[in-house]
Amino acid sequence: MNKITITTLGRMKAEGEKIVVLTSYDASFARLSEQAGVDVLLVGDSLGMVVQGHESTLPVTVSEMVYHSANVARACERAMIVADMPFMSHGTPQQALDTAGRLMKEGGAHMVKIEGGAPQVETVRHLTERAVPVCAHLGLTPQSIHQLGAYRVQGRDAESATRMIEDAADLQAAGAQMLVLECVPTLLANEISRNLDIPVIGIGAGPDVDGQVLVLYDMLGISVNGIPGFARDFLSGAEGIPDALSRYVAAVRSVDFPAAKHSF
Ligand code: KIV
Repeated sequence: MNKITITTLGRMKAEGEKIVVLTSYDASFARLSEQAGVDVLLVGDSLGMVVQGHESTLPVTVSEMVYHSANVARACERAMIVADMPFMSHGTPQQALDTAGRLMKEGGAHMVKIEGGAPQVETVRHLTERAVPVCAHLGLTPQSIHQLGAYRVQGRDAESATRMIEDAADLQAAGAQMLVLECVPTLLANEISRNLDIPVIGIGAGPDVDGQVLVLYDMLGISVNGIPGFARDFLSGAEGIPDALSRYVAAVRSVDFPAAKHSF
């Protein structure tokens, strides 16, 4: 059993092997996901919507993220665990360090994820210089929903696309070791992925990135708010949840998912 580390993911990117990421919030699904071959389990603050039933991810607290991350970590031997820094938990570099410390020490996370571009560069540098591995998150950043107005595709015009390309490069230069791109046009996501040395994981970002992530409940077709257009219900037609998870892993590795209809 070889543990998945950031080195593994870097090798996968270099060799063109797709990285499979899935959100996870509890021990049972974490174990099944790992057994199906998922490389990275993301303890996403999407739990605020799919587990807790909130309208957005904003109410999720650091203690709740620590609790769910610890549940996932307890069940895993091989997968890498990334935990979200929730809304208002990383307003200053020192606050971010305190949050990351809890997620790693109490929550067992191997990496933390922070939403946002240029304003997060200083924080990412502060964390990575202090041995906290960081995954950046650009495109649709759900913690900014009340600024964005709606969950919609980002980077469609030349100005915002250029800003995203520059933000991605700056976040990598600040030490980020992975990047999630959410709801971004396929061509832009591909350009960002080719520009960067670090793995780029897409959700609604087309097939031409280094890996894919979905919200677990979306890929099982059971999300309370309905399944977004960029997701596929892998439970439909499967023989059960372990089979659905295996189908997701196989579909990402073979680039059968995402198809054109899941991309922008
Ligand atoms: O919170 C989450 O689940 C996420 C993914 C959608 C990337 O950030």
